[in-house]
Amino acid sequence: MKSIIFANQKGGTGKTTSVINIGDALARAEKRVLLVDVDPQGHAAVSLNLDPEGGVANWLLHSVFNTTPLSTEDVNQWIRKTHQENLFILPGNQMTAKVQRLMAIEEKPVNYIRDCLPPLRHMKFDYLLFDTSPSTGGLQEMAAWAADLVVIVTSLDYLSADGVSNFVGMLKLLANEKRWSGKLAGILPTFFDEQTRTTREQMANLESAFPDQVFAPIHRATLLREASAEGLTIFQKDPGSRPAVEYQRIASQLVKLV
Ligand SMILES: Nc1ncnc2c1ncn2[C@@H]1O[C@H](COP(=O)(O)OP(=O)(O)OP(=O)(O)O)[C@@H](O)[C@H]1O
Ligand SMILES: [Mg+2]
Repeated sequence: MKSIIFANQKGGTGKTTSVINIGDALARAEKRVLLVDVDPQGHAAVSLNLDPEGGVANWLLHSVFNTTPLSTEDVNQWIRKTHQENLFILPGNQMTAKVQRLMAIEEKPVNYIRDCLPPLRHMKFDYLLFDTSPSTGGLQEMAAWAADLVVIVTSLDYLSADGVSNFVGMLKLLANEKRWSGKLAGILPTFFDEQTRTTREQMANLESAFPDQVFAPIHRATLLREASAEGLTIFQKDPGSRPAVEYQRIASQLVKLV
């Protein structure tokens, strides 16, 4: 079981869209995939036409309130099937924010989420994909520490390279000071629009600041916005569309990295 986190402290960069579509692409390639939504907004479930529920909160709180170790049966009751075979979700909601505060008060260590993974290993998932909130610290940092790979999802319509540099700095601290053993899979630029000079410039900045670490961009596409509003992945909405092809390609590249 390999875990991949999609993150950026900046909001609205396409993290959730990337998680659900890459998750669906992997599921269609016959991988068993669990999406873990550590964002209290609960958008991963909503984007799949499911209810945001307190699955992540229940999962993370178990060891705070119970003396018995977390079992596979415990976690299984909080996992939901999606409309795609092989694609499952441990949904999140506002409860996750309360858990985050509790973790801070109790000064839980950075390995806290990783220590909650063993029951999931018995469920034979090939991939865990973490969707995260637009912030740093707390659960975000714990999820990054639990991940084998990090994908920084950055929108090309603002100063992308600055935001990415901050995040890369945080990963370096995790590696140097907290012995994180994962690695950066790469930077995924989104909202690419070749008609706009800013996005072309931002893309060039990223490629020069992070050589060989930038994935081919996901174009800005109305179809993606419509699909998430309808609770569909791009593969359910239009599997032959450009964003479907683009997300499929990223999924294939990620499989080769872990
Ligand atoms: N490539 C794209 N083209 C057009 N719209 C997109 C694209 N990617 C995402 N969107 C839309 O932009 C909005 C924000 O995307 P998304 O929710 O994936 O961002 P996010 O990074 O998860 O946001 P947050 O930081 O709030 O969690 C959504 O309405 C989504 O449908
Ligand atoms: Mg999101």
